[in-house]
Amino acid sequence: MRKEGRSAEDILTELEQGQRREPSVHDGRLFGLVYPSSRPDLEELIAEVTRRYLFGNALNPFKFTELAALERQVIAAVGALVNVPQGGGGTMTSGGTESILMSMLVNRERARARGIDRPQILAPVSAHPAYAKAAHYFGMELVHFPLDSGYRADVLAAAPLVTPATAVVVASAFSYPYGTMDPVSSLATLAAEHGIGCHVDACIGGFVLPFLEQLGRDVPPWDFRVDGVTEISADVHKYGYCPKGASVILHRDPDWFGHQVFLYDDWPSGLYGSPAMAGARPAAPIAAAWAAINYLGVEGYTEMMRGLMETVAKVRSGIEELPGLEVVGDPIGPVLAFRSDRVDLFAVADVMDDRGWNLNRNTSPPGLHVMLSPAHADVADELLADLRFAVAHHGESRGTEARYS
Ligand SMILES: Cc1ncc(COP(=O)(O)O)c(C=O)c1O
Repeated sequence: MRKEGRSAEDILTELEQGQRREPSVHDGRLFGLVYPSSRPDLEELIAEVTRRYLFGNALNPFKFTELAALERQVIAAVGALVNVPQGGGGTMTSGGTESILMSMLVNRERARARGIDRPQILAPVSAHPAYAKAAHYFGMELVHFPLDSGYRADVLAAAPLVTPATAVVVASAFSYPYGTMDPVSSLATLAAEHGIGCHVDACIGGFVLPFLEQLGRDVPPWDFRVDGVTEISADVHKYGYCPKGASVILHRDPDWFGHQVFLYDDWPSGLYGSPAMAGARPAAPIAAAWAAINYLGVEGYTEMMRGLMETVAKVRSGIEELPGLEVVGDPIGPVLAFRSDRVDLFAVADVMDDRGWNLNRNTSPPGLHVMLSPAHADVADELLADLRFAVAHHGESRGTEARYS
């Protein structure tokens, strides 16, 4: 740290220069990590709400009672979206990973109550790395099973892998690598037959699938209406268009939610209670999530989804029209991967990188991956034109590896 402080102007100038070297959050050249809404009115509201709650702390709901009420309302709103039954409940967390961690912790405790020492997480290979992280943190074992020919979890392959140590079966609704829906009903039935948990990862889908359903699209059953689903994670900071730091983890059974809560009083300053990993919890993402959900409502989100799916259809057919390119599986929403037997798509990605795009690289099958947001509507034609050019004029791949983070 410097001895003397710097002027505010100096600090802002340096940050501005640094941010110019990074991809812009708003201009539609990133495909994941950020979810630009193209709604300045929404962003202005969120900025103002965030400013007001910047220094708050959600750790103590007895001091910040109103903030706690906002959090309860966000949980209830997301619970309604995913049809959590009466009595079910959960908490807000900092993101999808923390929501998944909390669910795996609860599932571990359920298994430990049955006397299992090293409980297993049974997950499709397309499941998010957060499950591996949970296994690593919580002394569990991650057991992978393969996908079917449609790049969905293969239930027939999962069934023989259930052992007395299996704590939970994972289903993605939908998956990050391919945007495809796992067969939640069959996986939940498998879990229920063995009396174990079924976690549905709707970190992306939680704010997509309910609005696709509103639009009358064909959405296979995936939420708490499916018997046997015990936990669902849904992120407000993805397609809920809230800034980072806002996810919800919901449990069907309130008793098991209790296992997520940490209570401690063996120290000199009284009872310490905390519902998730973090101790001090930022207030701003809670207030921002509350504001976004209340500002948009079901109608606002559904209209945004209608526009987004038009962009998805345009990009998807533009990709499918390119010679040798093929969309992987049948993605249900705004996330899609594409592959090719004839075109070196990593070389194509190099050309796209040089033109300022940031397409994601997938390793299996080797190919490219996009997560589309409303901001992509304005750049879809340019994106497809550049992709057409890159497919026709790429050289050797520079060997850039696939990197999610
Ligand atoms: C399907 C899925 N689950 C979980 C996560 C983890 O969410 P987060 O990055 O908010 O921790 C992601 C992130 O993209 C995801 O796509």
